[in-house]
Amino acid sequence: MNSIKNQGNLKKKKILLRLDLNVPLKNGSIADETRIVKIIPIIDFLIKEQSKIIIISHVGRPKGKVDPDLSLKPICDNLEKKIKKKIRLVQKDIFTLKKEDLFKNPNDEIIFLENIRFYEEEEKNDTNFAQHLAKLADLYVNDAFSCSHRAHASLSKITKFLPSFAGLQLETEISALKKVTTEIKKPITCIIGGSKISTKIGIIKNLISKFDNIIIVGGMANNIIEYKGNQIGKSIKEENCDVMIKEIFETLKNHSCKVTFPEDVLIGKNLDDEPQIKELNNIKDDDLILDIGPKTLDKIKSIIRNSETVLWNGPAGYFENPNFANGSYEIAKAITKKNKDNSIYSVVGGGDTIALINKIKVVENFNFVSTAGGAFLEYLEGKELPGIKALN
Ligand code: 3PG
Repeated sequence: MNSIKNQGNLKKKKILLRLDLNVPLKNGSIADETRIVKIIPIIDFLIKEQSKIIIISHVGRPKGKVDPDLSLKPICDNLEKKIKKKIRLVQKDIFTLKKEDLFKNPNDEIIFLENIRFYEEEEKNDTNFAQHLAKLADLYVNDAFSCSHRAHASLSKITKFLPSFAGLQLETEISALKKVTTEIKKPITCIIGGSKISTKIGIIKNLISKFDNIIIVGGMANNIIEYKGNQIGKSIKEENCDVMIKEIFETLKNHSCKVTFPEDVLIGKNLDDEPQIKELNNIKDDDLILDIGPKTLDKIKSIIRNSETVLWNGPAGYFENPNFANGSYEIAKAITKKNKDNSIYSVVGGGDTIALINKIKVVENFNFVSTAGGAFLEYLEGKELPGIKALN
């Protein structure tokens, strides 16, 4: 993997810079800025080198359609304020753009292309689309570790058409995670939650041989609760996961790893509701599981107390409503308490999980904070991520 740091002579070079500015947006405002803050070093570096920067990013999952609610405008405005430089947001159809038109005004230093996932070609890793993007620039830089688990055009195919380099944040993330996985101390506990069930459920089976405990909370736990014969009411779940869950329990038989999932839960009738504790056999058709219950929390805290390493991705509940944030907050507190007396090594990853620990101001009490969620888990699984493979 070639680093952009070692490239030299970047003056006036047009750089296609893939970032992951997929930050949580709530009614157009940014709920957590961490992913923006983390990419400022690469922007500063390229500006110092006098390069011309063309930023590519996605936000959300517009699935190839233009969705004004998923415009990058608020993110572009936020970045502009942070770096105190004018950024030109280009919302024109990418296919109509020409390299010579992009920096016609010599004062333009940074151009920001609109949400790359407005184009269905992006997720299809489309060759023509990648080729067209490549024609806009001289070099390509991937500084988007957190979406490098996606074989998409602006992360993977693009590298076929431009000299390609690793960005600064991507290098930092990889070297930190390499260290974590090679110098890891047992017992190791991996906590997996959040709502992106489809990204994560297939990974669990491959993590069993690597960890002593896997704690499943959040949306994915609903699938398991249902698989075990309970009702889950209106709670989120992924369809057609039973075979995968069966394989998880089959694989467990051959390993010492223990999987923990909720024994009790907090439910609401809607997302804004007050919490009610429920046993698993008492969940009604109109209930929504929105957090873990007190018995589950006690069990998780005891596992954390007995762990030397904790890797955590994905909140335990719908923490956006403080009534359902207790499980996630208590997990964060249990980890940071051990961190303060140096009796645990802790790594936390993922957009929502970072938002959560920022909210309760404990971000400094984790040993490493990765911007990546799905990519973080796939890296732990030992997979070569498509965006990284493409750089190699
Ligand atoms: C993330 O937030 O994990 C990345 O931006 C990837 O997003 P995705 O899961 O929608 O592909």
